[in-house]
Amino acid sequence: MVSVSRGSLLLTSLVLVACGDSQGSTDTAATAAESTGEATGTSEASGSETTSAPTTTGTVPTTGGTTEGAEDLRPNWHQDIAPLVTASCQSCHVPGGIAPFALTTYEEAKPWAGVMATDVAQGLMPPWHALETDVCQPPLPYLHDPRLSDDQKAMFQDWADLGAPEGDPALAAPLPPPPSLDLENPTKSITMTTPLTVDKVGNTLDFFHCLSLDPGNAAPVYVDGIQVLAGNPKIVHHVLIYVDAGADSASWPGGVKQNCGGGAGIGNAQLIGGWVPGGMPMVAPAGVSTELPAGARLILNVHYHATGGGPEEDSATGLALRWSDTAAQWSTFFTLIGAPGVGESLHGPLMIPAGEEAHVEEYEYIVPDNIPALADVRVWTVLNHMHKVGVDMRVWVENGSGETCLLHTPQWDFNWQRSYQYDAPITESFRVRAGDRVRLRCVYNNTMSNPGVVEMLAEAGLDAPVDVGLGEGTLDEMCLTGVGVAIKGSL
Ligand code: HEC
Repeated sequence: MVSVSRGSLLLTSLVLVACGDSQGSTDTAATAAESTGEATGTSEASGSETTSAPTTTGTVPTTGGTTEGAEDLRPNWHQDIAPLVTASCQSCHVPGGIAPFALTTYEEAKPWAGVMATDVAQGLMPPWHALETDVCQPPLPYLHDPRLSDDQKAMFQDWADLGAPEGDPALAAPLPPPPSLDLENPTKSITMTTPLTVDKVGNTLDFFHCLSLDPGNAAPVYVDGIQVLAGNPKIVHHVLIYVDAGADSASWPGGVKQNCGGGAGIGNAQLIGGWVPGGMPMVAPAGVSTELPAGARLILNVHYHATGGGPEEDSATGLALRWSDTAAQWSTFFTLIGAPGVGESLHGPLMIPAGEEAHVEEYEYIVPDNIPALADVRVWTVLNHMHKVGVDMRVWVENGSGETCLLHTPQWDFNWQRSYQYDAPITESFRVRAGDRVRLRCVYNNTMSNPGVVEMLAEAGLDAPVDVGLGEGTLDEMCLTGVGVAIKGSL
């Protein structure tokens, strides 16, 4: 077994954001702090812009901090806030991390107290886009859901309102152990073979380069764990992972296809996961694995975000994989539904006219009856995918017993695409049957009131909305969901 060296990787997965459930504690949440010290993924935000602390916190201590008894104020940093921030924020807000500033010490956190309170109250931080809404109540909780409870949000507000008291270090609450972003017991890690340099070109900071990686398995293997290794966390933004079963990408010179758009760079690759910085390794539920055929390649579509502060090189982005020579009881694959995927459009070809503020595209996929009658098929993870015009996306299943919502991402953010995995054993996950209708609904705002459109047009050197059709390019859109299903036995 090749072990993955800590420090140089950022891992992640289908699953993602590294925050435990933040209720405190022992969960994974905070590890990121440690493990990402030097090596965190990158995000849109990171870049080179340094963010300086606000000059006011909304509330400032009225006493200059020296009043007797100030240590007694609760909540205070040492007793209340630090453990929460360690668990919920430090997967990203650490020195060298993907967030634009660290939140590891009182001095670092204090100036941000007011903004922290507002951002957590609004659910902007920690970032998480799978929401329960009036039209979507998912059947199961999500794994690694980092969202804070109302009490925790209130604590941030109370702390800011009190003027962000430090409290007494001698009374400091124990900090939770930081969560690990590393895949346990990886079998192999594979990295890019040709370094890439990323720098601002014109107004463009964002580039999509596809990397073809050779896992080198001479016989089929069965993968149950995948971690994205961000070679240069300053520029590696989100990553989509594809299986190229026919090894078509083996012909790319140096294993790279530059500017490959939003897809895999070849026609028939299969999307199996998406990762954002700060994410956990993707680990399939117990008893579930996916076959990687002999000779197959893996393709990473890497969204590079130039820092704007000069060229940056990436020579080490890749994957850590864990596999076995024997298949697990359940085998998993991803069905890609929508555009471009299987299923029928309810409105004809995808076309989002310039200037439309709430354009809707819908797709329906009827689960075929070639699933043997007795086969047990379960949904364990779902990945929504649109580009920058998209604002809201929902996936649900309709059948004789009603409607089950799988995933709703109503505040779509291109920069935080990831897969959402359910927190349940495979036998308790949602069961799909032949004849079930999987429905997708994507909403697009193709006006300048959508910051994604403004960004997209700037990249293309345009200043007014254009008609947007289906495709992989900057000015194209998709309405695509990847549904990770596991089937007992084989089809
Ligand atoms: C998965 C990574 C990640 C986690 C976890 C995370 N942040 Fe952030 N945070 C970011 C990034 C990236 C930015 C800058 C860009 C943005 O706003 O999306 C940011 C920005 C912020 C800002 C500045 C926003 C502004 O208006 O300027 C605050 C405040 C903040 N985070 C607080 C928190 C707090 C508090 C937590 C934990 C409760 C947290 N973050 C958890 C990645 C993260």
